[in-house]
Amino acid sequence: MSLTLDNQLDLLFPANLIPADVKSKLPSDLHIRPLALTDYHRGHLDVLSVLTDAPDPGLHAYTAQFNRLRASSGFRSTYTLVILNSDSDKVVAVGTVFIEAKFTRNLGLVGHIEDIAVDKSQQGKKLGLRVIEALTSISENAGCYKTILNCSEANVAFYDKCGYSRKGAEMAKYT
Ligand code: ACO
Repeated sequence: MSLTLDNQLDLLFPANLIPADVKSKLPSDLHIRPLALTDYHRGHLDVLSVLTDAPDPGLHAYTAQFNRLRASSGFRSTYTLVILNSDSDKVVAVGTVFIEAKFTRNLGLVGHIEDIAVDKSQQGKKLGLRVIEALTSISENAGCYKTILNCSEANVAFYDKCGYSRKGAEMAKYT
């Protein structure tokens, strides 16, 4: 096993925010934890590329982005987590939730789930479900009154299985 211990890594957020029950549902060769700066070398961007364009910005720019996200805290937190294969020491699944602070709903908080991706060879093994369970838990424990996401029609059935329901319509304007 080549897995580096969490406490030896530069992590995006405290590892104890990931619920123990999600950890315990993973097979023994898989490990869920916050994104680490060194995941740049463990295929973080390769896994994201199953979702969308994720070109390599280079280690310097990746590090700057990691540090910007880690500096955001409290009402502007970004929580990106990964599932790693402990034998290969490679990222096999990723996902993010960020917290929005509102003026409505008694200054309520909303969790936005983004950028869920599972390595092609690992799809269909409940890793996507575990990522969503962990992110939803982080959002709810942060005090969010709801957790929302946008997805394609092809992924609606997956999110249904994760306990999410269709609500409203997605709009977009690309520049
Ligand atoms: N259609 C129907 N059911 C599905 C689909 C689908 N496209 N994908 C998964 N499911 C079902 C599974 O069969 C399983 O059902 P079961 O509990 O009855 O066995 C359940 O949903 C959980 O599936 P997982 O095994 O956890 O799914 P997986 O690990 O493959 O992850 C994901 C799903 C994230 C969609 C993955 O296939 C993937 O990375 N796809 C490419 C990138 C992508 O589209 N990401 C989502 C973008 S939306 C966003 O980021 C907010």
